[in-house]
Amino acid sequence: MNISIIGAGAIGAAIARLLTEAGLPVSIANRRGPQSLAPLITELGPLAHAVTVLQASQADIVFLAVNWSKIAAAVEPLGPWNGRVVVDTNNPIEAPLFKPFDLGGQSSSAVVAQWLPGAQLVKAFNHLTPALLANPTAEGGKRVLFYSGEHPDAKRKIAELITRLGFFGIDLGGLQQGALAQFPGGPLPGLNLVKHD
Ligand SMILES: NC(=O)c1ccc[n+]([C@@H]2O[C@H](COP(=O)([O-])OP(=O)(O)OC[C@H]3O[C@@H](n4cnc5c(N)ncnc54)[C@H](OP(=O)(O)O)[C@@H]3O)[C@@H](O)[C@H]2O)c1
Repeated sequence: MNISIIGAGAIGAAIARLLTEAGLPVSIANRRGPQSLAPLITELGPLAHAVTVLQASQADIVFLAVNWSKIAAAVEPLGPWNGRVVVDTNNPIEAPLFKPFDLGGQSSSAVVAQWLPGAQLVKAFNHLTPALLANPTAEGGKRVLFYSGEHPDAKRKIAELITRLGFFGIDLGGLQQGALAQFPGGPLPGLNLVKHD
């Protein structure tokens, strides 16, 4: 089960650190190309590899962590996805204004799913800041991550990964229910929950 990340900014790099710290190999791609990732790869160590976006898209599990306005163009040349799992970490808001994009009443995961025909999309890793995401254990407990999606096998894989990374995963249900943890309008984004035994 190989894992990649498209997008190596604040969220992509945070997820890469989580994976390598858990002993899992990861391939990472950004817009500017593998050479620009040399400092991050050096920081992450031998489990991390810089690849092209096309190479990253071939992994069994692909994290997508790209600025909302750039996702459609980033994924347009990729695919067919042939049932590969894509973790949608994205929110339809952007610096510097953080004004929500108009999604015509759809959830952000529904929009991203339409951009990735044939992929098994799981919405996760989107509701916390990179600083909070960096620490799965906190305050004597496990930080909560929400996940949602329409594909049970894909969700199971991401649930196992969430647990392996040290978080406490909560299955919100399908993509529509997952909107609870999505910008704009959901009550859960930014909520820093910690599960104590
Ligand atoms: N920051 C947060 O607090 C936060 C929290 C939760 C979720 N998110 C979501 O996570 C996603 C990423 O946010 P971020 O804060 O990590 O943004 P960021 O720091 O600006 O990083 C964005 C990354 O996307 C890459 N990218 C842009 N266009 C691309 C393309 N066409 N092909 C491949 N890669 C491309 C950029 O590559 P280059 O560097 O080469 O341009 C960069 O590595 C967003 O959807 C955001 O809503 C962010």
